[in-house]
Amino acid sequence: MTAPKKLFIKTYGCQMNVYDSERMAEALGGQGYVQTQSPDDADMILLNTCHIREKAAEKVYSELGRYKGLKAEKPDLKIGVAGCVAQAEGAEIMRRQPMVDLVVGPQSYHRLPELEAKARGGAKALDTDFPEEDKFEVLKRRPKAKRGPTAFLTVQEGCDKFCAFCVVPYTRGAEVSRPAARILDEARDLVERGVREITLLGQNVNAYHGAGEGGDWSLARLIWALGDIDGLERIRFTTSHPNDMTDDLIEAHGSCAKLMPYLHLPVQAGSDRILKRMNRSHTAESYLAIIERLRAARPDILISGDFIVGFPEETEADFQATLDLIEAVHYGTAYSFKYSTRPGTPAAERDQVAEDVKDDRLQRLQALLTRQQRATQEAMVGREVGVLFEKPGRLPGQMVGKSDHLHAVHVAADDVLPGDLRRVRIVESGPNSLSGVLV
Ligand code: 5AD
Ligand code: SF4
Repeated sequence: MTAPKKLFIKTYGCQMNVYDSERMAEALGGQGYVQTQSPDDADMILLNTCHIREKAAEKVYSELGRYKGLKAEKPDLKIGVAGCVAQAEGAEIMRRQPMVDLVVGPQSYHRLPELEAKARGGAKALDTDFPEEDKFEVLKRRPKAKRGPTAFLTVQEGCDKFCAFCVVPYTRGAEVSRPAARILDEARDLVERGVREITLLGQNVNAYHGAGEGGDWSLARLIWALGDIDGLERIRFTTSHPNDMTDDLIEAHGSCAKLMPYLHLPVQAGSDRILKRMNRSHTAESYLAIIERLRAARPDILISGDFIVGFPEETEADFQATLDLIEAVHYGTAYSFKYSTRPGTPAAERDQVAEDVKDDRLQRLQALLTRQQRATQEAMVGREVGVLFEKPGRLPGQMVGKSDHLHAVHVAADDVLPGDLRRVRIVESGPNSLSGVLV
């Protein structure tokens, strides 16, 4: 028997990429690869890239530069680029970095074994097409390996919304939903392997409309069907668009016990003028109305969001409207970004806001969001929540898990195992996590 080859995957960006990296590792497992945590002893280095941040491609090129020495020492080392930068740059990557052997876009991961073999044979392997076949079906899993208590499951990909700042519709393509039966099979398989919490993933997850029994299923319908799987205790989903927050999904937050009280619902900005320029097709008011209905259905739901400051033509008054909206919603947690141009997107061509203005606005916005995050955490003190334990904490005898509201919770307990779901009373709120005692 030959020794297994070693695969080092570096994952950037969103949960979708984390999920994709797992699938790629499984696909290459069939080619005799096992994963390693270090690039130094790898036979293949795969960068699973993200295109959403500024200068993403430049960062990938400089990361690749760091492997030049390794490649010189080990001519058999194969280097691959996957993910959205691979999709966007394509063959250009090999032109600029000739040491790259393999470039594969997110729609072609099921072809990795072929591409790897081609690269091993000394040829350049490239696939950034949008194929017809279902990559999830072709990416059949390896023999049933045991899994941790939480898992991601992709239910749809791509986006048709074309927000004026965003590259996703170009790099991930049009919105495609997977058939419900396949998702349910994959979920049952995950549960058999020890998973107790599934996060449904999609760039526009609540636009889900996969084929199911009796016609297309909505995300809510899918969630209810997943809720019937014994042993699956928790369901989450991300990322959602306000315009796809349908009545049945809002209602599910009130009545589906397995659906966790947490929703990531990006609004991006609070000024209707800017929202219009962003091509978001919702207003601040319509967003607030959705939040109100969600809270009526599930009063303790924790709302999370994404914000962009300094979108082209944003004035101080526009920015103030974003702060006002944040005050009105009261976010449990949030992600915020300075607008940065993505070539090929409509907003890239418009009048840009000065960098120092963006810096100042981001600082003010983050100060407000941090206050809200702290207050949300502090309000948990004294409350009893469910915690799904995942792993030992840093201190001896300590375990860490996630609460229903997705807060990290530390508990001192020696009789708790990963995968245990227990009731915990929160006793303290730290900067980024809570601590509690078993009830
Ligand atoms: N500039 C800044 N932030 C962006 N995002 C997407 N595109 C850009 C851009 N060009 C942010 C949005 C999105 C999150 C994933 O990244 O807030 O919701
Ligand atoms: Fe990008 Fe999300 Fe807008 Fe789609 S809805 S274009 S993924 S920001």
